[in-house]
Amino acid sequence: MVRVTVVGTGYLGLTHAVCLADLGHEVLAIDVDDQKIARAANGEVPFFEPGLEPLLRKNLDAGRLRFTTSFAEIGAFGTVHFLCVGTPEGESGQADLSFVHAAADALAPHLASACLIAGKSTVPVGTARQVMSRVRAIAPAGQQVDLAWNPEFLREGFAVQDSLTPDRIVLGVTSDRAEELLREVYATPLADGVPLLVMDLETAELVKLAANAFLATKISFINAMAEICEEAGADVMPLAEALGYDARIGRRFLSPGLGFGGGCLPKDVRAFRATAAALGVGSVVSLLTSVDVINQGRRDRVVALACQAAGGTLDGTRVAVLGVAFKPNSDDVRDSPSLAVCERLRAEGAIVSLHDPVAMPNAAKKQPDLVYAGSVSAAAERADLVLHLTEWADYRAIDPAALAGVVARRVIIDARCALDAALWHDAGWTVHVLGRRSRPQWKKCLTPVK
Ligand SMILES: NC(=O)c1ccc[n+]([C@@H]2O[C@H](COP(=O)([O-])OP(=O)(O)OC[C@H]3O[C@@H](n4cnc5c(N)ncnc54)[C@H](O)[C@@H]3O)[C@@H](O)[C@H]2O)c1
Repeated sequence: MVRVTVVGTGYLGLTHAVCLADLGHEVLAIDVDDQKIARAANGEVPFFEPGLEPLLRKNLDAGRLRFTTSFAEIGAFGTVHFLCVGTPEGESGQADLSFVHAAADALAPHLASACLIAGKSTVPVGTARQVMSRVRAIAPAGQQVDLAWNPEFLREGFAVQDSLTPDRIVLGVTSDRAEELLREVYATPLADGVPLLVMDLETAELVKLAANAFLATKISFINAMAEICEEAGADVMPLAEALGYDARIGRRFLSPGLGFGGGCLPKDVRAFRATAAALGVGSVVSLLTSVDVINQGRRDRVVALACQAAGGTLDGTRVAVLGVAFKPNSDDVRDSPSLAVCERLRAEGAIVSLHDPVAMPNAAKKQPDLVYAGSVSAAAERADLVLHLTEWADYRAIDPAALAGVVARRVIIDARCALDAALWHDAGWTVHVLGRRSRPQWKKCLTPVK
């Protein structure tokens, strides 16, 4: 058992704190947001994450997990301090490290001897060494403070599973002692066979950005293929399937559609590009610029399709939007492609009514002027056009014949290539799917929109 603290209790930090407690460690977590701390201490998870809340309550009840707002308390308590604060996009695309530095500066004066600070936030290469020198300058004289970077790869929606049984554990360390302490923290997953990769600080920082850059590139690649399929009269879905059977390529992250969003991939791609530019690495800059441009272009494409499907203007068109979370199984609307499309539709004069199973409260904070409907049929009431923008399983279960009864016009754009187009067609809908101009089962019925 290790006495662990977690600094920052957002998506990453709260999940990390709960899962480390569940692995048997004594955990004390801190945040500058005292409301978050009060809710967490009361057993409430302030965001949607399947399975997290019962695990939080279990570990609160077991006395392994506590919350505080006192840096003095965590400094005195912890042997390993995990930094899990946000690293949002700065004004010119670079990562804003102010939260990382503020958290480390607040912790440093309270550090007890022989402790380790392990960063988990996603940061530009070089950050760990900056944090290390700041902390050592502030920490009480004579304290042995080590620093490591332990990037996190969890996926929202699968955060508990990814934390308890990750694909791999990456440790950037500068001492044997740091490695030993982190091996002790992760003893259970390591005993279960999770691969451990130990490397220097800079490489560990880069692994996370390289992983996200690769995933983003894969998504933008298939979306570029969707564009050429539309022009060439081909169908991106069987193309993706055929590519995916190649073991060197793999099927995952090869789903065409509206592109990526959320609190990580877009900002990490831009931050990585900013770092590459600062280091003068043009190849990475041009690769990631293309990835970002292709991704943003998907949003324009959906708005253009909507405009065309509405007869050339969106002014006064009633548009029902299905899904506003950046991806299913999440209530996160940070850089949500759907929300960006909704904003543009509204700017073009459309009357937008939207539905999402869990993300509407977060969306309403960002876009209070949109109409939020309590059900799919309420959102689609008298709609001229339906847009499917987040591929929740609930939407695949919609009965298109029943929905046909409430809309003004049976026209749907499936921007996630996830609905059964033949089923919708058979119920009398005109179906537009990004990247698909023809498919034997329904091509005679599909009116392609270019
Ligand atoms: N969300 C994910 O799925 C995910 C996955 C892997 C990595 N990451 C990375 O993890 C980091 C955190 O992301 P997140 O999504 O959890 O962000 P978040 O915004 O949900 O949480 C950050 C938390 O840090 C708190 N905080 C800010 N300054 C603080 C300070 N000085 N002291 C204590 N707490 C402070 C905030 O109040 C907030 O609760 C980012 O670098 C992100 O890129 C996130």
